[in-house]
Amino acid sequence: MCGIVGYIGDKQAQSILLSALSMLEYRGYDSCGIAVVSNGIKSYKNVLRVAEMKEIAPQIIGTVGIGHTRWATCGEPTRVNAHPHFDCTGNIAVVHNGVITNYPVLKQKLINDGHEFVSDTDTEVIPHLIEKYYKGDLEKAVELALLDIQGSYAIAVIGAGENKLVVARKDSPLIIGVGDRETFVASDVPAILDYTNQVIYLDDGDIGVITGDGIKIKKDGLEIHREEHKILWSVEAAQKAGYEHFMLKEIHEQPKVIRDTLSEYTQMSEPIVDLENLREDDRSILILACGTSYNAGLVGKYIMEDLVGVPVRVEIASEFSCYGQTPEKTLAFVISQSGETADVLKAIRKLKGVQCHVVAVTNVVGSSISRIADQTIYTRAGPEISVAATKSFIAQLMVLYWLAMSYSKVDAKRLADILLELRQLPSKVQWMLDNGEDILQCARYLARFENVFFIGRGLNYPIALEGALKLKEISYIHAEGYAAGELKHGPFSLLGENTPVITITGQDSTYESILTNIKEVKARKSPLIALTGDGDEAIKEFVDMVITVPRVDPIFSPVVNTVALQLLAYYTARERDCPIDFPRNLAKSVTVE
Ligand code: M6R
Repeated sequence: MCGIVGYIGDKQAQSILLSALSMLEYRGYDSCGIAVVSNGIKSYKNVLRVAEMKEIAPQIIGTVGIGHTRWATCGEPTRVNAHPHFDCTGNIAVVHNGVITNYPVLKQKLINDGHEFVSDTDTEVIPHLIEKYYKGDLEKAVELALLDIQGSYAIAVIGAGENKLVVARKDSPLIIGVGDRETFVASDVPAILDYTNQVIYLDDGDIGVITGDGIKIKKDGLEIHREEHKILWSVEAAQKAGYEHFMLKEIHEQPKVIRDTLSEYTQMSEPIVDLENLREDDRSILILACGTSYNAGLVGKYIMEDLVGVPVRVEIASEFSCYGQTPEKTLAFVISQSGETADVLKAIRKLKGVQCHVVAVTNVVGSSISRIADQTIYTRAGPEISVAATKSFIAQLMVLYWLAMSYSKVDAKRLADILLELRQLPSKVQWMLDNGEDILQCARYLARFENVFFIGRGLNYPIALEGALKLKEISYIHAEGYAAGELKHGPFSLLGENTPVITITGQDSTYESILTNIKEVKARKSPLIALTGDGDEAIKEFVDMVITVPRVDPIFSPVVNTVALQLLAYYTARERDCPIDFPRNLAKSVTVE
């Protein structure tokens, strides 16, 4: 995790570094810091959010600098552990995102050589190694230091009196933003969108040296050329646009996300994935992901098995990458909003080892996952800043619907109905967004409890998982998602007046069964909130509160139900005064295993 930035140009670095860092706080926010070449190197770092830092940091004059916002992995969030880190002389400063796995050995050797360490971090070995190899050439010293290092890194380095930035990456993201007489470095695109939309994506093993004269990139000791890409995201897309939180803005963007993703893929003449051979060869599909993306994968299983008629296995990437077995040549979809999730990257490497064809579904162009997969399908959600995934989940579902429909074996009439419904989906989601009064009431009620269950069946079982994940993540209420039929196999012992149950009531063949489950829960005195289709009067007799969602073809019920549960989690967290966009202990891009 963590976000890093760098600047070299003709403007003062400090304010640019801080404004860029504020766009990377989704990557970590337990402390932050900057260092600027300024008559030596001057630095300021502390256990602060970037906004507080902007208020109180002393002004440092200088046009070359680096910055960091931290998600602590190695060493507690303290001022000393915050980045940048320095060598013994204070003439070399480094910001780092990643994990140096062999740091204990390196640290001990450096201590034996007389280096003094002040922090508990793995990162601090980097400036000391650079110091060890420094003979007047910062670039060379960084190159040599990196040869000693094992693990993952994106780093930016400055040296006292050096009018340059040295950067490098391995298994952690790093981009270079190319401006007019100024150059930026960042972990991710939103950090630099205010200044430029031209970027270079660095690849693993790249070392870049950025000076006033230009950008030089080397790999394996040889100078190479990396293309510039134009970013199509607008500056506004990465701003709050008047909404109280990014999460609320991102929830409200979902009708557009559905339209954008569908218009992109429905216009394609060629299918991009060969599912046809798969069916003939009697093989299966494997879907791998983490968190919310895993829940999208579970929905994908139901719709692909239903429409395409091939068996689909869905696995948690962190489990699969360590313990999973897979037949050779399986077709695997890996789903990751950020495209940087370490567990997913590890799973892809394992799949490639047994000649599986890997298709990445990601929202971030040029992300690590897109670089190592055989093919990439991009979701068109635009930048998602809030740590809680919302619009990216809906965009992932859209890609999965589109894939399933492209290879569907259902009859033409059914397919035409599905297509028609799909076109109406944005306006139905809009209706949800415009008529959320019942959700707000339920949220006010829910906010007083500490334990909640979400239950669903079939296609809406993954939505129960997603509803629970969203609620616990941002409101800190303990929430669990369950297949409705499983509740009686253990969790019933927890039911009672203080444990509400939220039922996702599908308007399909699951309706009668879930009604039975609702009655069982009622008999145990748990307060009941039902999400149900418009016009379902019958259910009111059995539940305490109702959230009405528009009627849709049952196959699309995960979409409208998810939007309702996102709003429920959002309003509940707001009621409990939680820091919605940046929940404690979390980060958006989980680049550690
Ligand atoms: O970037 P990814 O989709 O790979 O991230 C996976 C999870 O970390 C992520 O979905 C997480 O569960 C969400 N922030 C939850 O809202």
